[in-house]
Amino acid sequence: MDPLRIALVSSEVAPLAKTGGLADVVAALGAELSTRGHDVRVFMPLYRRLRQSANTFTPAPGMTDLQVSLGPRSGRISVLTTTLERTGLEVHCIDCPELYDRDGIYTQDADEHLRFALLARGALTACQATSWAPDIVHCNDWHAGLLPLYLRMLSSWEDLFAKTRTVLTIHNIGYQGTVGSDALDDLGLDDAAHLLHQEHLAQGRINFLETGILYADAVTTVSETYAREIQTPDMGMGLDGLLRDRAASLVGIVNGVDYGEWSPEVDTLIPTNYSAKDLGGKRECRHALLSALGLAQDDSVPVFGIVSRLVAQKGFELLFEPLPELLAARDVRVAVLGSGERRLEEWFAGLQRRFPGRVCFYRGYDNPLAHLIEAGADAFLMPSMYEPCGLNQMYSLRYGTIPVVRRTGGLADTVQLYDRATGEGTGIVFDQYDAPAMRWALRYAMELWSDRPAWARMQQNAMARDFSWERQTGLYEALYHRLLVGAPA
Ligand code: ADP
Ligand code: GLC
Repeated sequence: MDPLRIALVSSEVAPLAKTGGLADVVAALGAELSTRGHDVRVFMPLYRRLRQSANTFTPAPGMTDLQVSLGPRSGRISVLTTTLERTGLEVHCIDCPELYDRDGIYTQDADEHLRFALLARGALTACQATSWAPDIVHCNDWHAGLLPLYLRMLSSWEDLFAKTRTVLTIHNIGYQGTVGSDALDDLGLDDAAHLLHQEHLAQGRINFLETGILYADAVTTVSETYAREIQTPDMGMGLDGLLRDRAASLVGIVNGVDYGEWSPEVDTLIPTNYSAKDLGGKRECRHALLSALGLAQDDSVPVFGIVSRLVAQKGFELLFEPLPELLAARDVRVAVLGSGERRLEEWFAGLQRRFPGRVCFYRGYDNPLAHLIEAGADAFLMPSMYEPCGLNQMYSLRYGTIPVVRRTGGLADTVQLYDRATGEGTGIVFDQYDAPAMRWALRYAMELWSDRPAWARMQQNAMARDFSWERQTGLYEALYHRLLVGAPA
């Protein structure tokens, strides 16, 4: 395939700024596209945490002190680049201290919508300043949702983007970026009001993600099952009708895994490396995990791990009854890393108090501990209410850590229920979003744990699965190509 000019626009890029899987996906996809010879520019905001990090930022030639206007406001931005250590991916960071020099990646501030409108505007301005005509602008989540519309508005007088095609990837339809219609002017959309969703505008709101779905040439989401689910009223979060209208341009592409970072053979953040051929190192990782968390050692009991944003999406309320029941009845360990909603944090903290030495809840964000849990746990719990793709279950598979997941979204596409009769399957999968189904899954996990040959076989099946980006990137390339020749998505 001929090399393309591809702009990737995202609010998160790992390891510079990450709250979830979006950051991993953009960093890995960008790196793989570059490796394949494409000219890739990844655009993200220069948050305060980047400025304070040890990374070196260099002014990008031709992209300094650029005039940008957004509605009545105008100001100047610059683009600074930094190179990611392991993959060599260059990232273009938009410097606008007024909007980005704040704590946190996301804020509750009144101008949050402007912070991300500027990301879209800034990325396009930087392309214009360097006369760099992207073949593809690949927008991620609501944060880049206005970009396809901005591009369309610019195209009336700017030839640079005449052949540019846009892709919008929905990583999570639960976050849409909605603001009151009084923001129209501030967003520079006064003259484009007729292009927004008219009914919703009349109801007083502008929805970034919806606008992206309306104007992107193709819409993708991060698994095939989720692509179907978001077209249903139950799971489309109000956008299902629009997505059904765009069904011909909607594609599901399961995320890949960056095995350079998430694999027990090469992981530099775990005490002992191991592989499917020799799982000896996993025992040492398990030992290290239990001692790091102050949990009692016992090789005969399983360790359940959780690494997650603690939000309703992740379905942890399903554990409210079954997990304490299991802890009361059987000797197991539970290692939880995460932060988020107070009620969930309090629940896990309460569980730790109730079962000292057997449950540890580490509140916060900690990448090395996330790796240690993947390596040291025996099973990994992801009972998600919905899950666009999910990365942790794929990481778990590679670490021989059996995923216990609900059959939804990407979890359905990547984990296969273990069948004792055939010895096939990679994990434990349950269907219903309720406590009895969760209870069944935990019971089946305990049953398989006591059947060591079955557990070992399941681990081997899991570790043999390949979700590498090499494969998935080809699917994006094929999509880009179809768009450029005017074929259906
Ligand atoms: P989501 O993007 O919905 O949060 P994913 O499974 O796609 O879910 O990705 C989550 C990513 O964020 C994984 O790389 C996971 O290890 C990481 N992560 C989530 N919470 C934490 C945490 N508290 N500390 C460290 N890493 C975390
Ligand atoms: C979102 C989803 C998650 C997905 C990630 C990366 O945050 O919740 O399922 O893996 O984006 O695409």
